[in-house]
Amino acid sequence: MNKDIESIIVTSEEIAEICKRLGQRITNDYKGKEIVLIGLLNGSVPFMASLMMEIDLPIQTEYMQASSYHGGTSSSMLVQIKKDLDYNISGKDVLIVEDIVDTGATLQAIIELLNNRGAKSVEIACLLDKPTGRKVQGINPKYIGTEVGNQFVVGFGLDYDERYRNLKYVGILKQEVYKK
Ligand code: PRP
Repeated sequence: MNKDIESIIVTSEEIAEICKRLGQRITNDYKGKEIVLIGLLNGSVPFMASLMMEIDLPIQTEYMQASSYHGGTSSSMLVQIKKDLDYNISGKDVLIVEDIVDTGATLQAIIELLNNRGAKSVEIACLLDKPTGRKVQGINPKYIGTEVGNQFVVGFGLDYDERYRNLKYVGILKQEVYKK
């Protein structure tokens, strides 16, 4: 797998530091509260696992899964909920955990859903933010690991064709791999 990677942009050591830094901020910001962490499957799994262990608070962990079909324009972006919560988040402080925020369409749909269900607060923690990819307004993650440019990145949860999620780092995939 490593042979398909052009370069590493976030090392496993940097990811560990990110989780520690964000975990401390979250711990301070939510002191005295109980948060519900909602990991978005599948990509968030490694980040969710690492981040939650750096949060020194009583937390609850839940998971949702959405799939998006991105068309040419923002109006054609459809998000389907493939796995919903079986837990009532009404009145809860919710923190959505994502591997990457790109167009923002997935989070827009999830946030709207959680707000409609009466969440007390909804914030976003993401390992990677790709601001140049944004197609919807108003999606501003509070907790960001690091920003990435417009490259095709894989690893630490992020896939290409369902592969590379198990890399310990985030890297740029060689073009020859996805242009085959
Ligand atoms: C990826 C990623 C985010 C979403 C970000 O998920 O994990 O959830 O896309 O893109 P957006 O900001 O443009 O909506 P994907 O739907 O590929 O599923 P996965 O997590 O199973 O890889």
